[in-house]
Amino acid sequence: MRRSSGARFLPMVLGMSIALAPTLAFHPADASAQEQARVASPDGRNVVTVGTRDGGLYYTVDRDGKHILLPSRLGFAFRGADSLRSGLRVTGTARASADTTWTQPWGEVARVRDHHNELRVRVAETGAPGRRFAVVFRVFDDGVGFRYEVSDSAGFADYEMMDELTEFALADNARAWWIPSRCCDPDRQERLYSESPVSRLDTVQTPLTLQTSSGVQVVIHEANLTDYAGMYLARTGDRTLRTTLARWADGVAVRGRAPFVTPWRTIQLADRPEDLAPSVLGLNLNPPSVIPNTSWIHPMKYNGIWWGMHINTMTWGSGPKHGATTANTRRYLDFAAANGLGGTLVEGWNLGWDVEWFNSGKASFSFTQPYPDFDLPGLASYARGKGITLIGHHETASMIGSYERQLDSAMALYRRVGVGAVKTGYVGDLTEQGHAHQGQFMVRHQRRVLETAARYGLMLDVHEPVKDTGERRTYPNMMAREGARGMEYNAWGGEGGNPPEHETILFFTRMLAGPMDFTPGIFDLLIKRPTGTPRGPEEARPRTTLAKQLALYVVLYSPFQMAADLPENYERQPAFQFIRDVAVDWDTTRVLQGRIGDYVIVARRQRGAPDWFVGAITDEEARTFDVSLAFLTPGRRYVAEIYADGPGASWRDNPLPVTISRRPVTSASRLHLVLAPGGGQAIRIRPAS
Ligand code: NOJ
Ligand code: CA
Repeated sequence: MRRSSGARFLPMVLGMSIALAPTLAFHPADASAQEQARVASPDGRNVVTVGTRDGGLYYTVDRDGKHILLPSRLGFAFRGADSLRSGLRVTGTARASADTTWTQPWGEVARVRDHHNELRVRVAETGAPGRRFAVVFRVFDDGVGFRYEVSDSAGFADYEMMDELTEFALADNARAWWIPSRCCDPDRQERLYSESPVSRLDTVQTPLTLQTSSGVQVVIHEANLTDYAGMYLARTGDRTLRTTLARWADGVAVRGRAPFVTPWRTIQLADRPEDLAPSVLGLNLNPPSVIPNTSWIHPMKYNGIWWGMHINTMTWGSGPKHGATTANTRRYLDFAAANGLGGTLVEGWNLGWDVEWFNSGKASFSFTQPYPDFDLPGLASYARGKGITLIGHHETASMIGSYERQLDSAMALYRRVGVGAVKTGYVGDLTEQGHAHQGQFMVRHQRRVLETAARYGLMLDVHEPVKDTGERRTYPNMMAREGARGMEYNAWGGEGGNPPEHETILFFTRMLAGPMDFTPGIFDLLIKRPTGTPRGPEEARPRTTLAKQLALYVVLYSPFQMAADLPENYERQPAFQFIRDVAVDWDTTRVLQGRIGDYVIVARRQRGAPDWFVGAITDEEARTFDVSLAFLTPGRRYVAEIYADGPGASWRDNPLPVTISRRPVTSASRLHLVLAPGGGQAIRIRPAS
């Protein structure tokens, strides 16, 4: 199939290319004919060709001489102007290459190599109004990025874009792991993943992870989403996906004027699922940091007045169960300081929670006025005195006008009292004006919040965010985001909580975009009620074993990692030692074994230290693994501290048993990992003293 569709395409291309200059063809085998419009990765394996056919502009992507993307259209549709989809000609090309290595202030890896070849294709409309633009491709060994660049204002003085016509015409009916994006509920990222062939997709979110029948891993996403609308993918042909953009309330996708650039459309490519992470393609396509001094930005573990509200033992609003009281906050801060956590999040500290704020249009939060039983300045300095920080909270309920009016004074207040980080939240499907959750309006808003936070020296953790497209490179105070179903769904979510396979899919999908504030670490997995009775098997609760909760700290990367449970649930729990010990910043990351939706084993070396941490998780199946420790420094002696599923452990009816053991290891050792159904294993490997 693949071959015949390519072959059918070839004569048409060549037919057209004869009439056009410069000569452009698509068939990768025909190297001589299309030199100017072909660009390969430094290792030569990934090849992009660009050219016109019937006046339309198309690109293809090949890997190892096989089609990944068949000719896929490029262009735009506008309101009040003709589409840029036909009558196009290539007016010139330019090339560049880069090979640089840069250091992240924090991350999944310390050093990132940016090694790519670039092809810039200049395009003009043959008829009036003669609009011009360029498409720039960067081809790396780990994938392809391309974006449109418009510098000439003719026809782009004040445009209203209705659609970007960019296609991804998959050569193969690949398996896809996806979450939907439906018309009436457009932007909810907090959904369970499904798996199906591309030919069954409707409209889906990105990152979209695909596996071709020949085993190539393909991830479609975007990078540097700035002043533009978030991209979804809609299936328009059997295996063709087309960009569809989140919208303003009036239906327009993007408004602006030249000069502008679109976000990069990224196609990450790998031979095995294990090679997808850590994903740096998107980081390489974002501008370098604009924050010269990053000494105030630091990864940390934290706890918070949070889970109690989700399991209903505390409230955000005032009353007898109010969580954010001064006394309760001190208790959490004491616990954090005593256990090496860097901060305490406090939700429900500010006025506004006593109305039906959720999706009702009635929310009106104050971001500067605390409840009378919460002493903000006193607690912030109490935290500082212990060498930790309060983490502030701004739930907006997507009432953006009210938040923007208070933004400056709210951030200034945190700065003044000494709060070092803020968690924002955007519960709700649309803004109060009806703009889409990931549309240009919200992209602009969240960038404004990020810039304001940077100005006031605040680190940011965004819930219900615009998807991560690598902004942390430019703004390293952009720490974590939610943007998928996290732990909260195990408190109250439908379907009994997240299924045991959930995190084994997240690792290969959502996590490729960037860090996630998943909030692991629930120890009271049966969520006992105040009466002492646990929740029933069908009620929402974490569908994991305790050892898997620990493993999530290593598997699901975030520079902010919460110890999410109530402090009392960590008391007299030897397994809590792992949460105390685990690092949140990494020099190196290696995915040892993995299969999307089934299991994954990740090893990471702590930043600036010789310690390694290994996390292994499985879905509902019990599994055993044999793991080589060849990643350790040869000749060095280490101790492995192993937190394994205990005898009879199972997420279903016996999630708590953990066996903690120690053994000497070297780079020549192998570990035999036994994981329970819904289980995991967490290992700290430290030098022997
Ligand atoms: C949803 C967030 O994901 C959660 O962490 C938070 O507690 C609530 N919104 C309230 O802001
Ligand atoms: Ca959420």
